[in-house]
Amino acid sequence: MKQLSKYIELYRPPHLHLRIQDEADAPDIFTLVQSEQQRLSQTLPWPMSVRHQNDTLNTIKQNRQLFAQGTSAVYVIRWDGKIAGIVGFNTIDGDEAVIGYWIASAFEGKSVAYNAVSALVDWYAKEGELKTFIIKCSVENPRSNRLAQRLGFYFHHLEPQGEKIGQRFLDQNIYYYSPSDKSAG
Ligand SMILES: CC(C)(COP(=O)(O)OP(=O)(O)OC[C@H]1O[C@@H](n2cnc3c(N)ncnc32)[C@H](O)[C@@H]1OP(=O)(O)O)[C@@H](O)C(=O)NCCC(=O)NCCS
Repeated sequence: MKQLSKYIELYRPPHLHLRIQDEADAPDIFTLVQSEQQRLSQTLPWPMSVRHQNDTLNTIKQNRQLFAQGTSAVYVIRWDGKIAGIVGFNTIDGDEAVIGYWIASAFEGKSVAYNAVSALVDWYAKEGELKTFIIKCSVENPRSNRLAQRLGFYFHHLEPQGEKIGQRFLDQNIYYYSPSDKSAG
């Protein structure tokens, strides 16, 4: 079992702060998801199912348990002290992790998500904790595809009908990134 307790929080001055979700974050995150629900549900499967603050609280509790078990690591993104969104490893399996992220509209188009994902990947890769990073995004999510490509991820394969958004099954582009391959080659 992976011990991830040293990965609780990361500052990347001057703007970025990542911290493992805390129960105390539930009211702010719930409010943000509520205000962004329509927008986020265009590209994510879960926002419409968030109805009460307790839904957010329960998700945070589950995520904290998975972090303690070393199988997931979900962080709150703070930018200049304000909650901007969420980034993390939805799953960790051996030295491979699947990345997930969303940011609030006020922080979109400013490279906040780029900075958050690259800080997270650099951190775990430098420590030798993880070697392979995966991003899965629907072919209908140009912003997320651009982000994966800008981060240096390469297209690995297409997963037909890889995710269900609303009532539609969408094909997913699966991107991989292995930082250690660069030093090897
Ligand atoms: C996917 C998502 C995180 C991408 O966010 P983003 O802000 O587009 O991504 P980045 O942080 O890389 O920012 C990139 C943009 O910032 C711009 N940018 C870069 N540096 C900048 C700066 N210093 N100042 C202002 N803008 C800047 C870039 O030009 C780029 O915009 P462009 O792609 O339109 O040219 C966001 O759209 C989102 O949360 N979507 C909803 C949830 C979702 O789909 N999650 C992913 C599921 S797979």
